[in-house]
Amino acid sequence: MIFKSSTTAVPEVDAVPRHVAIIMDGNGRWATKRLLPRVAGHVKGVEAVRVCVEACVDRGIEYLTIFAFSSENWRRPEEEVSLLMRLFVTALEREVAKMHANSIRLKVVGDLSRFDAKLREMIANAERRTANNTRLTLTVCANYGGRWDIMQATGKMVAANPGTVDFTEEQLSGHLAMAYAPEPDLFIRTGGEERISNFLLWQLAYAELYFTDTFWPDFSCASLDDAIASYHKRERRFGRTGAQLAKKT
Ligand code: IPE
Ligand code: IPE
Ligand code: MG
Repeated sequence: MIFKSSTTAVPEVDAVPRHVAIIMDGNGRWATKRLLPRVAGHVKGVEAVRVCVEACVDRGIEYLTIFAFSSENWRRPEEEVSLLMRLFVTALEREVAKMHANSIRLKVVGDLSRFDAKLREMIANAERRTANNTRLTLTVCANYGGRWDIMQATGKMVAANPGTVDFTEEQLSGHLAMAYAPEPDLFIRTGGEERISNFLLWQLAYAELYFTDTFWPDFSCASLDDAIASYHKRERRFGRTGAQLAKKT
């Protein structure tokens, strides 16, 4: 079987990244440093999301994907998990109308079956309401894991092609939770850790990786611009040589 890479096109050098994916990390440490409970960091983190979404809209970024809750985050103390769920509900209640007014399309991806019925219904309503918006697609990854995504896509792909054993990458990627979006151009992780933590494993194959020590609640428009500036210094070769790119072949 020949594997054909799905990431082939080289974007223009100074183009704004079309898709930015962020692991928003460091909320807890931000709070602890200020002798506050961890929850205070999560509350401030929601504000940072608002700022970041606006900044992405202003800069013409088309897709922003944020990791809000991983499939591994259930391992946290029950109190913190239930607070994160409540924050999610409140954010949906407060922000969806504003998002809609700003033509932002909201998507929530992950194994939503573990969330309670009320939250699932709110998500479905918000997605339906904003479905035709075109300025920015904001994807919130909730109870998301890259391995879960590859497994669920594999299950759907096999079910759609009974008796087949030979598949293409495109067949699988067409069933990934974010099949509606191009692969991320720029991956950002705040909070100082340099790992992927089971985020978009398949889709990050050729993303430019950017790590910053800034804790997520402190992440500002200027921080986003620093990340984009770093992105602009990279040469995205997708397997080619630098000389080939210079000749635009
Ligand atoms: C990221 O911040 C938010 C979530 C995982 C929900 P953390 O809560 O992981 O903050 P640190 O890493 O403990 O500082
Ligand atoms: C990754 O952050 C998940 C989210 C930001 C939602 P974590 O803080 O949970 O990551 P690890 O476990 O330290 O790698
Ligand atoms: Mg963390």
